[in-house]
Amino acid sequence: MKKVLMIVGSLRKNSFNLQLAREIQGMLEDRAQVSFLEYGDIPFMNQDIEFPVPESVDRVRQAVREADGIWIVSPEYNYQIPGVLKNLLDWLSRPLAPNDWQRGSAVKGKAVTISGVAGKSGAAGVRKNLSALLEAMSMKLIAGMGTGISLNAEAFRSGVLALSEAHRAAIRDQVNMFGDAV
Ligand SMILES: Cc1cc2nc3c(=O)[nH]c(=O)nc-3n(C[C@H](O)[C@H](O)[C@H](O)COP(=O)(O)O)c2cc1C
Repeated sequence: MKKVLMIVGSLRKNSFNLQLAREIQGMLEDRAQVSFLEYGDIPFMNQDIEFPVPESVDRVRQAVREADGIWIVSPEYNYQIPGVLKNLLDWLSRPLAPNDWQRGSAVKGKAVTISGVAGKSGAAGVRKNLSALLEAMSMKLIAGMGTGISLNAEAFRSGVLALSEAHRAAIRDQVNMFGDAV
């Protein structure tokens, strides 16, 4: 079985994006072993502490390297990539040893796809920015800007993400494209 690593761009316990990631996990179950990256403990990027690599960063890089593909599910903060996720991606973009660009980063060439839950925008801003960033990091972007879901008033009231049939169909298409590519 292929291994898929889910990276959720929100640290919130009841995150809508975490709820979506769990739905995606259910849809992937037949074709992949899915795990979730815990990265709330990594430090802010600071080149003074880049080497030797902090233990928490080493752990997330190991998890990423063991995965056949990565699925990022993220909210948007002011139409941009949330700081916690950008910080993680900055760490992942760096070489494994000082100036060792020969081996590249932990994510170079890795298959990746994107989804996002947000308000009216359907996370279009973060998905656009993420797709450009991941390509700049030499990752293999599958399904372009991926799938976006707009939260309605009922979701904000209840805190529960309810997917429509159209949402499910879009995610299923993305699961198939991603599953074929990894
Ligand atoms: C700092 C901040 C900025 C936000 N900016 C946006 C935004 O630009 N567009 C949007 O649709 N929602 C925005 N929101 C609202 C989020 O979509 C909403 O809080 C959502 O629940 C966050 O995702 P999560 O449930 O996975 O944590 C913002 C929320 C925060 C905390």
